[in-house]
Amino acid sequence: MKISPSILSADFTKLTGELAALEKGGADYIHVDVMDGRFVPNITIGPSIVEAIKRATTVPLDVHLMIEEPERYIDDFAKAGSSIITVHVEATRHLHKVMQAIKGHGLKAGVTLNPGTPAVMLEPVIDDADLILVMSVNPGFSGQGFIPSSLRKIREVRKMIDASGRKIELQVDGGIKTSNIKEAAAAGADVFVSGSGVFSTPDYGKTIAELKKQALSGR
Ligand code: DX5
Ligand code: ZN
Repeated sequence: MKISPSILSADFTKLTGELAALEKGGADYIHVDVMDGRFVPNITIGPSIVEAIKRATTVPLDVHLMIEEPERYIDDFAKAGSSIITVHVEATRHLHKVMQAIKGHGLKAGVTLNPGTPAVMLEPVIDDADLILVMSVNPGFSGQGFIPSSLRKIREVRKMIDASGRKIELQVDGGIKTSNIKEAAAAGADVFVSGSGVFSTPDYGKTIAELKKQALSGR
């Protein structure tokens, strides 16, 4: 059970302190939401900020690309210090090739689906994925509510992963809090992104510990 707090909800005027608090608080990954104003309506950060984040923490960076044609930027985000790069099946015409490019840098390749995209889209790349992310909100903003039908998709993907016999992490992202993480864990997720669910609380370490405890109770 891993917790990947999304720094999109952090206070960017004190990012070093926020990262230190997450590291001290036991975060397994730092989730970095990259948005281009095209694939999603919002614009967030680019490779130079990822590179700065990398210098400020030893926690592996879990970089979620919500950008059109991610193939154009894999080299930049790899050089910036990503450990995992996750791309959307809807954002590229060359999914298999993009995933090979990520692996070519020695990184974990992640693949993800919008809430409206069926799990079957993952089948052709199941042998290449190190992580599958089920989006439980429509990407673009933090602080949205968890979409209940995501649980069905998590269960479906869990079956696909188990049938593959491969070691693939199953991540869920969007609206995860201490109050609902148990259900997502019971459905089969083992890596949990949480933005507002961590950053709206006073003690990140305490919240991360509670998230893990609740997740384990769902298993
Ligand atoms: C949504 C992002 C998420 C988001 C999570 O587009 O991919 O990672 O920041 O934030 P919460 O946990 O607040 O939904
Ligand atoms: Zn994300």
